[in-house]
Amino acid sequence: MNTLANQQHRVLSGMRPTGALHLGHYHGVLKNWLKLQHEYECFFFVADWHALTTHYEEVEILEQSVWEMVIDWLAVGVNPGSASLFIQSRVPEHAELHMLLSMITPLGWLERVPSYKDQQEKLKERDLATYGFLGYPLLQSADILIYKAGKVPVGEDQVAHVEMTREVARRFNHLYGREPGFEARVEAAIKKMGKKNARLYNDLRKKYTEQGDAEALKTAQALLDSQQNITLGDKERLLGFLEGSGRIILPEPEALLTPASKMPGLDGQKMSKSYKNTLSLREEPDDIEQKIRTMPTDPARVRRTDPGNPEKCPVWKLHQVYSAEDTLEWVKTGCTSAGIGCIDCKGPVIDAVKAELAPVRERAREYEEDRGLVRKIINEGCERARDVARQTMVEVRQVMGLDYR
Ligand code: TRP
Ligand code: SF4
Repeated sequence: MNTLANQQHRVLSGMRPTGALHLGHYHGVLKNWLKLQHEYECFFFVADWHALTTHYEEVEILEQSVWEMVIDWLAVGVNPGSASLFIQSRVPEHAELHMLLSMITPLGWLERVPSYKDQQEKLKERDLATYGFLGYPLLQSADILIYKAGKVPVGEDQVAHVEMTREVARRFNHLYGREPGFEARVEAAIKKMGKKNARLYNDLRKKYTEQGDAEALKTAQALLDSQQNITLGDKERLLGFLEGSGRIILPEPEALLTPASKMPGLDGQKMSKSYKNTLSLREEPDDIEQKIRTMPTDPARVRRTDPGNPEKCPVWKLHQVYSAEDTLEWVKTGCTSAGIGCIDCKGPVIDAVKAELAPVRERAREYEEDRGLVRKIINEGCERARDVARQTMVEVRQVMGLDYR
């Protein structure tokens, strides 16, 4: 159901299909998704249209990247029973909402989003002076608003996009939440709640609007959530009236900042495909071993007998992700006294990464061999997503004057 209570608890997030994922993704985004899927109603999707805004010339690899990424999600334990997994382009309603939102979005808002200029600078080899790339954050707004998602887990770099989404939602509600006879409808809706609840609602609203009492606002929102006798439309009116606006059709989402991954790359920089310093989630045990064995260490340890400093060593950062206190002590003492060699030191992290990835690799292999199952999971996710998206579009078309036949 598309109720207010659900919306506050609905999580939506997307990832551009970059192909096989790596340990940086796992220790950042994916572990966070695994946690969220137990706490909220989650929608996770492949942002394939977003990939095209920058990679419109490389369409050959798109399909494979999409499926590889979905398999990696499943392999790490994203559970299609708790979360709906889908592909953006399979829910064309996103495109319709994007287009309709474009009517009311000032160009300046898009030009001002920091990633617009940053990415153009960074991806100099591509021509990103396109309409599609300018619209990237607005497409993201449509992704979020079409599910009326309350919470959007994103990394630091995406917070500005969620902020812009809030502005777009506010503008939309301001323009289209002003229906004729709004006050009279509000009156009628209040009455429908019954005497006691009506009085409570009015008191709480007063406390919020006159004294800025944020607790009162929360209590009133919860009160509205629990009402059985009024329609969704009436709830949206009362919610809007509470906050001093018109009817709230597209609620403002909140960014849930994903804790940054502590996973270093093999060279000590952030793990990232563009630095070629990754361990993929499906890395073979021999390759894990070989890649970690050849990792650079503290350059001061030229000979085995030279003492080192863990703070200057990328392997130490791996220990901090994987090792318990006693192993950390062993490294610190052994390294600074030259009591252990770097190959000894790498042993426990090699074992830990192997142990972590063995079941992931195994599950990925199972899904690779059963593409039909993967397709079925995505088909079901797309259907669940479309159900919600369709409902929102009915409302959007209606308030934008488009519901004639
Ligand atoms: N832009 C996001 C990224 O690059 C991906 C994305 C697209 C997204 N639509 C979204 C994330 C909606 C959250 C919500 O990571
Ligand atoms: Fe790095 Fe360990 Fe070698 Fe010290 S002993 S330099 S922490 S790999």
